[in-house]
Amino acid sequence: MNRFTGKVVAVTAAAQGIGEGVARAMAAEGAHVVLADRSPLVTAVHEAITAEGGEARAFQADLESYAAARELVAYTVAEFGHVDILVNLVGGTIWRKPYEHYGEEEIEAEIRRSLFPTLWGCRAVLPHMIERGRGVIVNVSSNATRSVNRVPYAAAKGGVNAITASLAFEAAAKGVRVCATAPGGTEAPPRRIPRHPGTMTAQEEIWHQETVDQTTEGTFLKRYGTMAEQVAPILFLASDDASYITGTTLPVAGGDLG
Ligand SMILES: NC(=O)c1ccc[n+]([C@@H]2O[C@H](COP(=O)([O-])OP(=O)(O)OC[C@H]3O[C@@H](n4cnc5c(N)ncnc54)[C@H](O)[C@@H]3O)[C@@H](O)[C@H]2O)c1
Repeated sequence: MNRFTGKVVAVTAAAQGIGEGVARAMAAEGAHVVLADRSPLVTAVHEAITAEGGEARAFQADLESYAAARELVAYTVAEFGHVDILVNLVGGTIWRKPYEHYGEEEIEAEIRRSLFPTLWGCRAVLPHMIERGRGVIVNVSSNATRSVNRVPYAAAKGGVNAITASLAFEAAAKGVRVCATAPGGTEAPPRRIPRHPGTMTAQEEIWHQETVDQTTEGTFLKRYGTMAEQVAPILFLASDDASYITGTTLPVAGGDLG
């Protein structure tokens, strides 16, 4: 398929995981892709896409700030002329534990990681898309909006769902679609860029396993999804095949609606 031939796409969290998968799949379908991530490992993804004949740029920044989100949009426009699609993927729970064990700074860090990059990304790209009268934003939420041991992350992703619905409502008349997927547990190789600073204690390992068990048991299919099963729905929502879909958060979690 070549659903993205000539389309300009900015993908955040593109150095690994679902973001890398989305960037590579879109580039393979003809997109011009800006790979945004705070890790220098994003250059390896850039090199891989280029080696496969794709068109990409790497943009390294911490996307928890509005300034960085604006720089990403400006960089994409400078390199490729405009932005057709923004995929907001930065997020991921940092800690897993019952809420009474979270410290104040940890709660704020979870919100900065999993809510603000999407809030800032949408805000930064919106004037450009409205000016052009067209554009698509795909946010990536989580089925963990109903889960154990991740209340701050759940709050952040619930916010992503609300951004998606409300922004889609007000931006529809201006030509901008806004959708999201809500992934469930996803099989992935060990993360080169860890979410959690340092090693887990024995107690944290137990709390971590509780989330894995709850995630699996909460699905109809009783298994984690694959990376390809997460990437494909994001590409669908970003493509013109989804032109009559906006404001929707699509659960991609084996039957778990989050
Ligand atoms: N993997 C899963 O099982 C799963 C399940 C549900 C939802 N999700 C969501 O999917 C998205 C991607 O998850 P993943 O597990 O594939 O990613 P990951 O945790 O493997 O990688 C995250 C990437 O984001 C980058 N990043 C983190 N903070 C950043 C920041 N402030 N600025 C710029 N880059 C930053 C990291 O460097 C890394 O490359 C996240 O929003 C996550 O919440 C993932």
